[in-house]
Amino acid sequence: MIVARDVVKSFGDNLVLDQVSLTLEKGEVVAVIGPSGSGKSTFLRCLIHLETIDRGSIDIAGNSLARQHIDGSSEYPPEPEIRRICGRMGMVFQSFNLFPHMTVLQNIIEAPLTVKKVPRDVIIPKAEALLGKVGLLAKRDNYPTRLSGGQKQRVAIARALAMEPDIMLFDEPTSALDPELTGEVLRTMRQLAEERMTMLVVTHEMGFAREAAHRVIFMDQGRIVEQGPAAQFFHAPQHERSRAFLGQML
Ligand SMILES: Nc1ncnc2c1ncn2[C@@H]1O[C@H](COP(=O)(O)OP(=O)(O)OP(=O)(O)O)[C@@H](O)[C@H]1O
Ligand SMILES: [Mg+2]
Repeated sequence: MIVARDVVKSFGDNLVLDQVSLTLEKGEVVAVIGPSGSGKSTFLRCLIHLETIDRGSIDIAGNSLARQHIDGSSEYPPEPEIRRICGRMGMVFQSFNLFPHMTVLQNIIEAPLTVKKVPRDVIIPKAEALLGKVGLLAKRDNYPTRLSGGQKQRVAIARALAMEPDIMLFDEPTSALDPELTGEVLRTMRQLAEERMTMLVVTHEMGFAREAAHRVIFMDQGRIVEQGPAAQFFHAPQHERSRAFLGQML
């Protein structure tokens, strides 16, 4: 579903992604872990075109989002094509980013109505089903300010799912939450994983990475230092830096 090859990205003279390559298979759940500033968020943001890459290539579900030009630089297709390709992905951020002036239901139906032109009578039952799935149907007509952080994040997940993405990207979806609210969001994500959603998850939750992810990618200083099956990575990390990181986290 995702093939990224030798992605290079700098902010000014700060090299943030240094030849990062990744493949994500359909139905696979991959956790991206690593210290602060290692480039995890930037990598996700590049995959969904919230940032552009300098070099390398990115394919999403068989479509070329960025291809490497003969001179090494990356080139992008026209904007409508980019939007079509990135429309196959949903993203959930640390700070839920709900629309504060809209109810929970309105938050979920807004993009399907306006971007995908899904009829109201089709999207409303679907939104309600999604709310049921994340356990928040009773909050249908509430405004986000009336919700807990965990509830807001579950609405954000339902909102992303309402666009029927093939791939879900999560950037530390639980790190703004109190520990007692983290569990309910992780449960929703585990359920998605069990339904074979293709997921790329940046997380500090080592328990989630170990139990729910098929594969773990460890990034440090803009590079993938190590990747492997979750069980293997946590049981016997191969690199000194991975071991040091896990030592701190566990
Ligand atoms: N918009 C930006 N402009 C300039 N520099 C940026 C920008 N976004 C990120 N950076 C820099 O890129 C580097 C990687 O940041 P990034 O947010 O990708 O790290 P991260 O691994 O997600 O860290 P964290 O675990 O703290 O979220 C950092 O040095 C950061 O300062
Ligand atoms: Mg980050």
